[in-house]
Amino acid sequence: MPIKYYDASQTFLLETARSSYQMKIGPGGLLLHTYYGPRAVRPLPHTGQNPPESEVLPPDLFTDFVRLDRGFSPNPYDAGRDRTLSCDTLPLEYPCEGSGDYRPTALGIRGSLGVCGCDLRFRCYQIQEGKYTIPGLPAVYADDPADACTLVITLQDDAAGVQADLYYGLLASRDVITRSARIRNLGTEPIRLTGAASCCLDMLTGDWDLIHFHGRHCHEREFARTPVEERELTVGSRRGNSSHQQNPFVILADRHCDEDHGYCLGTALLYSGSFSACACREQFGLTRLLMGVQPERFDYPLAPGETFYTPEAAMAFSQDGLSHLSHLFHDLINSHIVRGPWKNRRRPILINNWEATGIEFRGSQILAIAEQAAELGVEMMVLDDGWFGRRSSDSAGLGDWYVNEEKLGCSIGQLADRIRDMGLRFGLWIEPEMVNEDSDLYRRHPDWVLRIPGKDPVRSRYQLVLDFSRPEIVDHVFRQIAEVIRECKANYVKMDMNRCLNDVWTAAEGLQSQGKILYQYTLGVYHFMDQLLTAFPDLLLEGCAGGGGRFDAGMLYYCPQIWCSDNTDAVDRLSIQYGTSFCYPVSTIGAHVSAVPNVTTGRTVPLRTRAAAAMAGTFGYELDLNELNDEEKKDVRGQITFFKEHWELLTLGLYYRLTSPDGASELAAWMEVERTGKEALVTAVSLSSHGNGPVRYVRLKGLEPNRLYRISIVNIPEPQFLFCRSGASLMYQGLLLPEDSAQHRDDRKIRGQYDCLQFLLQS
Ligand code: GLA
Repeated sequence: MPIKYYDASQTFLLETARSSYQMKIGPGGLLLHTYYGPRAVRPLPHTGQNPPESEVLPPDLFTDFVRLDRGFSPNPYDAGRDRTLSCDTLPLEYPCEGSGDYRPTALGIRGSLGVCGCDLRFRCYQIQEGKYTIPGLPAVYADDPADACTLVITLQDDAAGVQADLYYGLLASRDVITRSARIRNLGTEPIRLTGAASCCLDMLTGDWDLIHFHGRHCHEREFARTPVEERELTVGSRRGNSSHQQNPFVILADRHCDEDHGYCLGTALLYSGSFSACACREQFGLTRLLMGVQPERFDYPLAPGETFYTPEAAMAFSQDGLSHLSHLFHDLINSHIVRGPWKNRRRPILINNWEATGIEFRGSQILAIAEQAAELGVEMMVLDDGWFGRRSSDSAGLGDWYVNEEKLGCSIGQLADRIRDMGLRFGLWIEPEMVNEDSDLYRRHPDWVLRIPGKDPVRSRYQLVLDFSRPEIVDHVFRQIAEVIRECKANYVKMDMNRCLNDVWTAAEGLQSQGKILYQYTLGVYHFMDQLLTAFPDLLLEGCAGGGGRFDAGMLYYCPQIWCSDNTDAVDRLSIQYGTSFCYPVSTIGAHVSAVPNVTTGRTVPLRTRAAAAMAGTFGYELDLNELNDEEKKDVRGQITFFKEHWELLTLGLYYRLTSPDGASELAAWMEVERTGKEALVTAVSLSSHGNGPVRYVRLKGLEPNRLYRISIVNIPEPQFLFCRSGASLMYQGLLLPEDSAQHRDDRKIRGQYDCLQFLLQS
């Protein structure tokens, strides 16, 4: 069992293939965090021999921390005259507000008198086979219970009447540790939770940077790296969705850590609502990282006997830099978060009509787009916004999930059948959480929206938000949508969400319960998706929130893929997808080829670059292919053939970032490597163009140094052989981009700004 408890030293040791995590029951039962880092090497005994495998590790490997009498850092009452014990200075596993710890804390409790003060102490523990689950919330799973185990540590504060069960899930071979907490009111009076983090990490040593991913609509997940210093560095969302502005995935990276070297640890929250992540270096040099639900607007009532479950945080540690950390998260998501029949399976290459037609379209246009797409090898037609209610613009119809047959010119079942007759599957757009005031649903149920009594709600995109904290509303919307899906036998649904939450108030509850609505709303969204997948088990669900406003590991438990951004400009996508790739695998990143000039940026990018960027995602099209000329159509056919042939390498291979999109980069390059290293695809996009330009090499990664690789340039669809090089030469010196070399034909060059080259390496 990779979870061990050493009684003599009261130490817990969690071991994954390459990392160790250690906690210790300290004086008075305080649970201390003593280590998270590279896996402990078994020390040699004095004989100089390795100890037998069966021999237990000395448990006090990592318990060298200082206890001193520190001024203004108070001592728990039960420490008596010992002034060296203080919750303000110790590394703590689940610190509480009001315990004498003045740093940001994991747990905030308001007792029956409204006072804060909680001091959790160790009570008992349990080790179980298999991975725990969390009611109503997404959680990492292991198909085979033998691949995972669970530790539950119970802490208690008798005076406050609070119990906290800290859950640890270990996927040892994946190097992943998950955490969640269950908080229970043990008392006889109601209490309130004002903060309940999913995880706290007190790192005793190290100079760390916080890497986080910020952005905005059409510019999600920009990479940012900030030193953790003596102030609280907080990122998060107050919007009710995980947000375009910050992503619920953060990294603590050693100051010298880069893509290939150094310590770093990542934490991904499996949660799609408001969240917070806070890092700080405290007064004596320890670094604390906290992550969980956003404490602002969180005020969760717990009646006697009631429990609250925090969302899950998944953590991984890498001692080999950021690339390896990304690989750990990619594998975790592909194998232990994404579920259902589409897990690790090629998704249909789709065409979506949104950028071609917008909301105002006719059925005949959809059929024309589908027909051309089918001819070129596309596999699914997705009908986007506009097929329902009186949806003539984005100010009407949302909430009315009945088919607008006048617009389609037939029933949706007939439209889908015609599309299926062309050999395509059929997919549909929905936005279940929202309503326009100009809709039958709103006219009938104005009290179904989130709205503060006596106050007009804030509008966004002419939309109000349905109160998904109320199961009867979720069920109503579900029934309507399910009927349409049944009628058209949709194979795919794109589930959108086009505004943030603001007027968070439910008509169904009294004043005391309003602080739980944001959390309950998120659970309502999960319940909706659960119902959908239960009713239609083969459905491929794609998440979306105005592009990537809810791109998180929680959504991926339901949606194997998420529309990455409303910005389909291939060059902007390079940096958006770069940031996304730190946590999320290619298989989850919704990416399409769209028309030029791009509708968002006005930029014109060559078709092959647009295709290369989309192939670093789920791959599809979002334009009217009828508008392409014959040569372009031939290229599209070739791209589709190429993607089908190489999807496993592209989607499930190891993904390496070869450049970073900082201002100085002239090139954006990445590669996917087949896991045995025998095959790879390298993509390089030129970001600048010069007369008499520089010679450009890209250093490759993940190859076998001693293997000889045949390198072909991908002149879609048929790669053309160029030359052979060893893995060592390609990784240590680099691949020379043949742009200025006279020996190559014109179409083998990067011809100018935004052009790209792809190389297939085979050994
Ligand atoms: C959002 C989505 C788009 C499209 C529109 C439709 O912005 O991200 O892809 O579906 O809604 O209104």
